[in-house]
Amino acid sequence: MPEISSPVLWHGGDYNPDQWLDRPDILEQDLLLMQKAHVNCVSVGIFSWSLLEPEEGVFNFAWLDSVIDRLYAHGISVCLATPSGARPAWMAEKYPEVMRTDAQFVRRRFGGRHNHCLTSPVYREKVKRIDGRLAERYGKHPAVKLWHIGNEFGGYCYCDLCKKAFQEWLKEKYTTLDELNRRWWGAFWSHRYSRWEQIDPPSPLGETSNPSMQLDYARFMTAQCASFIREEREAIRPFSSLPVTVNMMWDFADYDYHTLAKEVDVISWDAYPYFTGASNLKTLAEACMNHDFMRSLKDAPFLMIESSPSKVNWHPVNHLKRPGMHLTSSLLAVFSGSDSVMYFQWRKGRGGSEAFHGAVMDHSGRDDTRVFRDVTEVGDALIRLSDLKAQPLEKAKVLIVSDTENRWACLNVQTGYQGKMDPILEAHRHHQALMQLGVRCDVKDMSEDTRLEDYDLVICPQLFMYREHFDKRLESYVRNGGCVFQTCFSGIVDGDDLAYLGTAPHGTAQVFGIRDPELDALYPEETITLRLATGESIPAMEICEYPEDVTADTVLGVYETDFCQSLPCFTLNHYGAGLAFYLAARVDTEALKTVYERIFRDVPVERTVDFPLPKDVVALSRGASTLIANLGAGTRLIKMTSPASDRLSGALLNESFALESGRCVVIARKQNG
Ligand code: GLA
Ligand code: ZN
Repeated sequence: MPEISSPVLWHGGDYNPDQWLDRPDILEQDLLLMQKAHVNCVSVGIFSWSLLEPEEGVFNFAWLDSVIDRLYAHGISVCLATPSGARPAWMAEKYPEVMRTDAQFVRRRFGGRHNHCLTSPVYREKVKRIDGRLAERYGKHPAVKLWHIGNEFGGYCYCDLCKKAFQEWLKEKYTTLDELNRRWWGAFWSHRYSRWEQIDPPSPLGETSNPSMQLDYARFMTAQCASFIREEREAIRPFSSLPVTVNMMWDFADYDYHTLAKEVDVISWDAYPYFTGASNLKTLAEACMNHDFMRSLKDAPFLMIESSPSKVNWHPVNHLKRPGMHLTSSLLAVFSGSDSVMYFQWRKGRGGSEAFHGAVMDHSGRDDTRVFRDVTEVGDALIRLSDLKAQPLEKAKVLIVSDTENRWACLNVQTGYQGKMDPILEAHRHHQALMQLGVRCDVKDMSEDTRLEDYDLVICPQLFMYREHFDKRLESYVRNGGCVFQTCFSGIVDGDDLAYLGTAPHGTAQVFGIRDPELDALYPEETITLRLATGESIPAMEICEYPEDVTADTVLGVYETDFCQSLPCFTLNHYGAGLAFYLAARVDTEALKTVYERIFRDVPVERTVDFPLPKDVVALSRGASTLIANLGAGTRLIKMTSPASDRLSGALLNESFALESGRCVVIARKQNG
């Protein structure tokens, strides 16, 4: 698989010189200021199609030649984009089929971006042609290091082309309509099909009451996106063997990223945490779980290919990063495995909807700004920490199973607490608790290539759907000495989203020593508490289960209120050579910290640092260094076991030192780590 050839961590971002071609003075200034801010890589051409091909078949590369040559002359590398994220007006006018059709079966007009049909043969053909031209011209340019395919692939199309392709995809999958009707539970509401042509994409105008069908449409749309990316990559390949990437997104549920990951050489994503200004623990822990997910997609370093140096323009409240936070949030990415800190964007445009989105260069055109200083500080830190790039990433020993297909099934399910069934929220609570305890995790899905045996502890947060023989794999993992922790609403449906018959959780009831839990949902004002054997009481929230029968050998907690009084809710079962923990109630992050401290008595896991982390302080290690960051609202006293020097400032840190809100230090990693 092609790899990025760069000895350094990348610092840079989206650069849109095509918006400034009438201002050569600004283009000149850009290069000098990039050097000043230690920028060494930029993404170019993401939305340049109307300039690259102003009329059908008429190409204009002169401006891009000059941009790339001049970047190269200033020592700046290029991620060169294919322009498939937005198309020129002439194309929409001449070939309306390239435009996306919404779930009401209405075709979109020209405008916006990301609104094309991924199935349209015309669109695919036009994309391949421009991609081939770009690759032919720049594929061997020494500045170009990476292909950036499209932009933030997302959304579904419901046009007739997609409908036909969906029907073909279904024929391939099910072979006969009888099989499809059986696995879609077609007898319900008389929804059997007698001809393939009767099957429309799921739409509010038609079918939205069949979760199995909705699941298949999400799989089909993922397959269309994967083949679209593959065709783009194949259009580039005859001319260039450079690696390709697509910029992925935050907690994204339209497509299964595990499938898309197979089509690219390098994983990259766009990180836009929702900064609050007070405690940023939750939002940055969420960003870190996304980082861990991106790293785990290929067990390899990834790129944070976009982030904002200050604020965005699309959050409900567009809050500025507070002092120190730009460095801290950037280094959290790097210590999670990112080989870059890149921004949207280098320079604010004068018009368009993103004119007031944060950028390195503001409309003032000055470099004596807070943001420019913050960005330069990050560039400087990446140079100081450049040894991180060469050191191999270590695998985590704890795995959180977070699976997109399970997520689709949970988002469609009609039970429990409506609107609160998204399993990614449960996964985040676990990740955040573990992060505060200094425990590093991988985040992977249920597919066969996830090897449970690689981990000391496997966490199964709300795995409603067991697919890919997950029950059997979990059973054998525990029998052979693995440790698992599963939470409520797990092991209920199969990969077709059909409820399993027989004892639940399917195939693992014996492993956990619980049987047929009955699911309850709690009103917000309702309080049910759990009393742990260690003495603490913790509140349940939103959903909880009452197992019909508990044979687990150790009860670690019981319900202490309501009709479920004294019923076991937190259990440990010794199964084969392994341990199986089960938590029957949903609890918050604080409570999960208590739960994990109990689990770690039996399952020793390595902590990032050998001293307790104060509230809201996190620590991440990479290579021979450890980042300590205060994400809380106030100053925190860090009590280490010995003095250390800060690799960022060069200052000597006493054994105890005060770390201000939003600030971080980087110290040598503890020896046994
Ligand atoms: C996304 C896109 C960029 C830009 C930013 C703004 O990440 O990829 O083109 O719109 O959002 O935050
Ligand atoms: Zn379509």
